[in-house]
Amino acid sequence: MSKDLDFSDVQGLLRFGYKHHTEGAFALLRVRNRAAARAWLAKAQVGTAAKGPLPPTVLQVAFTAPGLQALGVPDGVTSSFAPEFVAGLGTDPNRARRLGDVGNNDPAHWQWGGGDAQPHVLVMAYAMPGRLDACCRDLESHWAVAFELMRWLPTTDMGGVEPFGFTDGVSQPEIDWERRIPAEDHDSLAYRNLSCLGEFLLGYPNEYGRYTARPLLEPVGAAAALLPRAEDDPERADLGRNGSYMVLRTLRQDVPGFWRFLDAKARGDAIERQRIAEAMVGRRTDGQPLLPPAPMPIEGVSRESTARNGFTFDDDAAGLRCPVGAHIRRANPRNADLPANTDGLVSRARRILGFDGAVLHADAVASVRFHRVLRRGREYGQRMPLGEALARSSAPVETGLQFICLCADLARQFEFVQGAWIAGTKFAGLPHEGDPLLGNRRAAPDEPDTARFTMPRAGCPSRVIEGLPAFVDVVGGAYFFLPGVRALRYLVSS
Ligand code: HEM
Repeated sequence: MSKDLDFSDVQGLLRFGYKHHTEGAFALLRVRNRAAARAWLAKAQVGTAAKGPLPPTVLQVAFTAPGLQALGVPDGVTSSFAPEFVAGLGTDPNRARRLGDVGNNDPAHWQWGGGDAQPHVLVMAYAMPGRLDACCRDLESHWAVAFELMRWLPTTDMGGVEPFGFTDGVSQPEIDWERRIPAEDHDSLAYRNLSCLGEFLLGYPNEYGRYTARPLLEPVGAAAALLPRAEDDPERADLGRNGSYMVLRTLRQDVPGFWRFLDAKARGDAIERQRIAEAMVGRRTDGQPLLPPAPMPIEGVSRESTARNGFTFDDDAAGLRCPVGAHIRRANPRNADLPANTDGLVSRARRILGFDGAVLHADAVASVRFHRVLRRGREYGQRMPLGEALARSSAPVETGLQFICLCADLARQFEFVQGAWIAGTKFAGLPHEGDPLLGNRRAAPDEPDTARFTMPRAGCPSRVIEGLPAFVDVVGGAYFFLPGVRALRYLVSS
């Protein structure tokens, strides 16, 4: 069996992100008529990851677990997907608590995806400038019998800047398309930005050198005719191969709330206001890092992107340049399997045995190569310039992020990053603080106050910003399966 990746079987979002298609809207659908829905999906022209001329519009299609049921996929097949996908994002209070979806973020208050308000199918439309409206109207006219439209999730092209005003989409893992990383479990001594293909696509080895669990079927009927065989189990048809799990969360941002709070903390000093905001994100507003490039090149960071992404936190253990609790440091601590600067056998042994206090807290943060996510989100709503956000007279606007990320293992990747690193109030041993941008600031049983952000300073006590309000609310979300193209055909024909 060929080990080459068939790009024409992978939906293009994973590889391209459709940056040139600056317009986009995502339809949340429920199946109204099963036969018509299957017929529409069987013919849907989804864009693939194969290179070719840019089409004016592109569709991507994904399903929730209730969606697979509504389409008539046998229960035994649906239940063999990952348990987090089967359970869903907005249905379980324990999951909600772990992910920080409590208080204002509680799925009970969501505009979509909470409780029974589950979409079945997600159709994502991406379009070149000026082409989106006609594309959406055309879609609606063709699926009127098949689907009930729950809502369109709009997006806005803000020119690569998220609503608070920071350049977004700067750092992404580089995918090992050619499978250069050996498929075996081994210690990684240095941070690398290159991730095994199996971290993002099912059916390939992951960072443990293993194949992530996925539905493997008896190769009979449509499964035999349409699906590839599993690389690790050639007797079975691989329904997961070339597919990904996708997290979609609508995150509403309070832009005036963010800037007015920082302005008050900075006592109106514009430079200080900016400094605190950049410390919270961990980058300058123009996307530049707060640290210089690392002395050695980082695998998976191209020469052109070294200035923006060729850094680690190894030489900033105390967070003097980039606070340990900054958003990008929580979301990607840029560490390896062993504590930073672990070279030489003796030094390695000392650090592993815990005799080197300086690196102890670095050791407490799990190795990032098992917890990467590929972000593919888009902004929505109205952009509010800083001056307007600061003006007392301006009313809040509806804006935020249609946060999207792709991964092969929802629990180990998205849920770990969101739950332990972003919502968690003990990241890297920091007490009483969640993510400065995303934290829900709710009291926990052993933590009455989680509304802090610590900015360490050399030679004097840290500056601690207290009383942070929540700047971001979760207002919708769901887990989807973004199938490979052959798997999509199977799901609507089985
Ligand atoms: C409204 C919500 C959010 C805002 C405003 C926001 C903002 C940002 C900004 C400005 C950056 C730096 C630029 C870049 O590297 O692209 C960034 C990076 C990042 N964010 Fe977020 N983010 C949000 C939600 C999330 C969520 C929910 C997650 C994951 C669960 C996440 C994970 C990441 C990751 C992994 C990075 C890259 C870190 C790195 O590799 O250096 N973000 N975010």
